[in-house]
Amino acid sequence: MVVNSIFLVGFMGCGKSTVGQQLARRLAWRFIDLDEQIEKTEGRTIAEIFAQGGEAPFRRLENEALRKIVEESARPGGRVIALGGGTFVQPANQELLQRARAITVWLECPVEELLLRCALMTNRPLFRDESNFRALYELRAPYYRQATFTVPAGNSTPDEVVDRILSLKPFQGLVCCT
Ligand code: S3P
Repeated sequence: MVVNSIFLVGFMGCGKSTVGQQLARRLAWRFIDLDEQIEKTEGRTIAEIFAQGGEAPFRRLENEALRKIVEESARPGGRVIALGGGTFVQPANQELLQRARAITVWLECPVEELLLRCALMTNRPLFRDESNFRALYELRAPYYRQATFTVPAGNSTPDEVVDRILSLKPFQGLVCCT
């Protein structure tokens, strides 16, 4: 099987974008951030989309953007895709990824560390307070567990997480830059 796409999943703050960029650089692949794609297409920030219409319209845009990326992954060239924290939790998105036989990697990080990482960030509409954050994490963890692979991402540098991903069986033969 020729692997040309890696989808990173996980809760907000787990490092999907940072790890994704470094992983793409190591593989000399393109990096795609799903949230950024949505913002580019819409000409609005994620925070604005939530503020103007709430979560439901955001999820529709997210599904459309993911659909396009999955379609494009049939084309030549490699890409690493960072999904949003809630993308993999939406049944339609999981189905889309499963149908495409996409390889998904969950960046698993303890909720305590996620809280610390996200506490200073103001751009996450679904981070209301600590108890809501913990409850959302508990609700989502069973979905993330369904990813093809799980890689520990807590208490590690992005480089260490990238090394762990590249040591997974399907990626072992890929040519990497150092
Ligand atoms: C969301 C996480 C965000 C973004 C949106 C919704 C979520 O992405 O997609 O605010 O549902 O957890 P990050 O995981 O990159 O913060």
